[in-house]
Amino acid sequence: MTNPDKFKKIIAHAKEYGFVFQSSEIYDGLSAVYDYGQNGSELKNNIKKYWLDSMVMLHENIVGIDSAIFMHPTVWKASGHVGAFNDPLIDNKDSKKRYRADVLIEEHIEKINEKIEKEIEKAQMRFGNQFDEKQFRTTNQRVIERQSKIDEILNRFKKATELSDLNEIKQIIIDNEITCPVSGSKNWTDVRQFNLMFDTKLGSVSEDADLIYLRPETAQGIFVNYLNVQKTGRMKLPFGIAQIGKAFRNEIVARQFIFRMREFEQMEMQFFIRPGEEDKWFDYWKKNRMKWHEVLGMGDENYRFHDHQNLAHYAKAATDIEFNFPFGFKELEGIHSRTDFDLSQHQEHSGKKLQYFDPETNESYVPFVIETSIGVDRMFLSILSHAYQEEIIPNNDGNTESRVVLKIPEALAPIKAAILPLVKKDGLPELARTIMNELKYDFNCSYEDKDSIGKRYRRHDAIGTPYCITVDHQSLQDNTVTLRDRDTMVQKRVEISKLAEIINQKTNLKSLFKQIN
Ligand code: GAP
Repeated sequence: MTNPDKFKKIIAHAKEYGFVFQSSEIYDGLSAVYDYGQNGSELKNNIKKYWLDSMVMLHENIVGIDSAIFMHPTVWKASGHVGAFNDPLIDNKDSKKRYRADVLIEEHIEKINEKIEKEIEKAQMRFGNQFDEKQFRTTNQRVIERQSKIDEILNRFKKATELSDLNEIKQIIIDNEITCPVSGSKNWTDVRQFNLMFDTKLGSVSEDADLIYLRPETAQGIFVNYLNVQKTGRMKLPFGIAQIGKAFRNEIVARQFIFRMREFEQMEMQFFIRPGEEDKWFDYWKKNRMKWHEVLGMGDENYRFHDHQNLAHYAKAATDIEFNFPFGFKELEGIHSRTDFDLSQHQEHSGKKLQYFDPETNESYVPFVIETSIGVDRMFLSILSHAYQEEIIPNNDGNTESRVVLKIPEALAPIKAAILPLVKKDGLPELARTIMNELKYDFNCSYEDKDSIGKRYRRHDAIGTPYCITVDHQSLQDNTVTLRDRDTMVQKRVEISKLAEIINQKTNLKSLFKQIN
């Protein structure tokens, strides 16, 4: 179920509460580029820590690196990105708008699919419990016709893509009378390929300078360092190299907020293995990565695998972990069985041997690779989408009021505890400061003494702070405070000396890690 209104509210909330800003906003922004604010950058850092520690600390045989964004231009020839990292582009001559031809076709298919779903919904209402969807799909004439239309388009599109037949891709758009969403016309240009890599010049004199690229994925920085890490770390197969870093793609259709950006961040891990063991490890990483998501408690039903039918030329298998975003299930992470393609290509283009001598089999070979690849920004969006909730709650006058709360998994919350003196006098701020000074070494805390306590609670609900600690007059007498839970809003009196332990129990990453393995 898609929810455009909720999505709009999430975007507005992200801005209002310092999570995500449009880049260069005072100059009217830069399309598909975003900045993370004071709370957003904390959440992002926590996501990265959760990912990197789960790779490096939980696996003895995985190490992290941090490679440069600029790389030798031949890297991108070897990886296939210069030749094949393209999207098919088409322009509408009337609106002058540019589209990805494959997206236009996919959206057309989606519309036909929606009609099928509506037929099914109607029939379901009519027949109630006796409704058999499978039978309906295979017997209802309208559904059969629509489904065969979808199959026909998909088949034509698959063949055209395999043959890089751009004329045929245009013909599919014409034959299906696909119109421009802006002008409504069918006045299309030819389809042409558009490379997604940004380029720039290295060197001070532009005529002599070499053309280099901003990396479109962090993975190649891992491949070209495979031998360095293997030798200096004396790594034995299987072993992994993990890296977090910026990637850049000149996306034609950049929309849905931080879902598809032109500058984004990836968390990628290449797991080097013995050839022949790829199915076993592909399966292992599928399970491990799904578990990493599930233990965050955002609902197992919000994730699903989507196996790729059209595999890239180097891939033996590929699957996406999709998340139920407000605009439907979409790719959050990719898990790819990449064979020895990348290392072999770099071996060929660089002339350097990238082989592994296996002491167990006495053989040298180029290792195979299983890759896990997830966008930090997409992970951020999945958390924000799930966390955002509007609730009607009872207030002090016996009436109700609404609150917006971000139920961010506690371990990832930007601020773990807010320390709030009830009033700004009578020694309460001094005691609150003492508590803050004790907790700040372990947790990101916030001290706030402005506005009524109710307003302060709301502000912290809105940024997802798991605990509010209120210091009141009783605190001066018995060294206790009230501890308010973000999700249940229940307030308990607890001893000041127990605070660190209670907050730690709920917000540490360790308890998540223990559930993963
Ligand atoms: N090394 C493999 C690779 O880059 P990919 O499927 O192109 O594979 C991996 O990208 C992940 O990176 C995606 O699952 C997504 O989370 C993220 N990603 C890709 N393009 C993105 C974009 N334009 N904006 C934000 N995240 C993106």
